[in-house]
Amino acid sequence: MDIGNVSKPVLGIESSCDETGVAVYQPGRGLLADRLYSQIALHQEYGGVVPELASRDHVRKLLPLIRETMAAAGLAFNDLGGVAYTAGPGLVGALLVGAAAARALAWALQIPAIGVHHMEAHLLAPLLEPAPPAPPFVALLVSGGHSMLVHVAGIGRYRLLGDTLDDAAGEAFDKTAKLLGLPYPGGPALAALAADGRPGAFRFARPMTDRPGLDFSFSGLKTQVLLAWQHSDRSAATRADIARGFEDAVVETLTAKCRRALAAGDAGTLVVAGGVGANRRLRETLTAAAAADGFRVAFPRLQFCTDNGAMIAFAGALRLAAGQHEDSAIRVFPRWDLESLPAVA
Ligand code: KG4
Ligand code: ZN
Repeated sequence: MDIGNVSKPVLGIESSCDETGVAVYQPGRGLLADRLYSQIALHQEYGGVVPELASRDHVRKLLPLIRETMAAAGLAFNDLGGVAYTAGPGLVGALLVGAAAARALAWALQIPAIGVHHMEAHLLAPLLEPAPPAPPFVALLVSGGHSMLVHVAGIGRYRLLGDTLDDAAGEAFDKTAKLLGLPYPGGPALAALAADGRPGAFRFARPMTDRPGLDFSFSGLKTQVLLAWQHSDRSAATRADIARGFEDAVVETLTAKCRRALAAGDAGTLVVAGGVGANRRLRETLTAAAAADGFRVAFPRLQFCTDNGAMIAFAGALRLAAGQHEDSAIRVFPRWDLESLPAVA
C-alpha cells in the first residue's frame, strides 16, 4: 500500500445523516470538486429524518455522486492518494454505506482510507477559507446533534469547554419549527419566518446565561415557545414574532457563552461551524461581539456549515498527511467522543 505520497488528491465521503456529500481535496491545491445530494424531499412528508430511508437513499446516490465528483475534478480513480469517510457520530446504517464504499474503493486501489469524526470535520471547515485561522482557537460547534464549545490547541487536540445538557441548538430550531407548523428541516424555515417578526414582541429566557460555566440548555425554550403559541391569537404575524423571539434567545445565548469562552482563555479567535452556523442573525451577532471584544471570528462559507463532503476530504487529508490511517475493517461509531481523537503532529 502506498502511503508515501500524501500530496495526492483525497476523496471525501459524507453519509452520516440526510445528505450524501462527496468531494476531492488535494493538499497544496485545495478543493478540486465538491458535490452534494440532499434527501430533504424524501424525509419531508415524515417531518424528520427516517434512518432506514436515509441509508437506502445513500446506497442509491453515493456511487453516481462519486463518479460525478471525480469527473468534475478531472481525475481518474488511479490519481487518488487516499479516501476519507465519515465514521461517526451519526446514523449507523447511513454511516455504514459511506464506510463500506470508501473501504472497498481504497482496497481496490491499494491506497489508505481513514474514518473521520464528523464534528472534527465541521470544526475544521472554516480552515478551507482564505486566511485560515491558526490554533489556539475556540470552536462553537452548533449542528442538529451537537452544541459544543471546544478549545482547539492544534489539529486533534480538543478540550470540551461546554456542551448541551439536553437539546442541541439545531434540534431546538427543528423542534420549535415543528410546533409552529413549519416544514422539515425546521432551522432554515424558522430563520426565514423570524426575519418577518418584530424584535422584542416576545421575549424568552436566555437559558443558563445567568450562572457561570459554558454549558447550554435549550429544551426549556421550546416549552416556552409552545406555551406562547398556544396562548396567542395564532395569526401569521404572531407566529413570525414568536419565531423572532426564539431565534434572538438562541443567538444571544450562544453569543454570551462564546464571549465568556474567549474572555477566559488563551485563544484570540472564535471558529463557528455546523448547520446553525449558517444562521444569518447568529453570524451578524457574533461578528458584532468580536468587534466589540477584540477577537477574530471565522465562519465557513454557507454551504460548508451544513453537512458536506469537502470538510470530510479536508479533515481526512490532514490526518492521512500525518501518516494516520486504519486497517481495512469497516467500522463506524454512532457515538464518538471528540476528545478521544489522536493529535495530528
Ligand atoms: O451540521 P448539520 O448540517 O447536520 C448535523 O451534523 O446535524 O446541521 C443541521 C442543523 C439542523 O438542525 C438545521 O435545522 C440547522 O442545522 N440549520 C439552521 C440553519 N440552517 C441549518 N438553524 C438555524 N438557522 C439556519 N439558517
Ligand atoms: Zn453535521
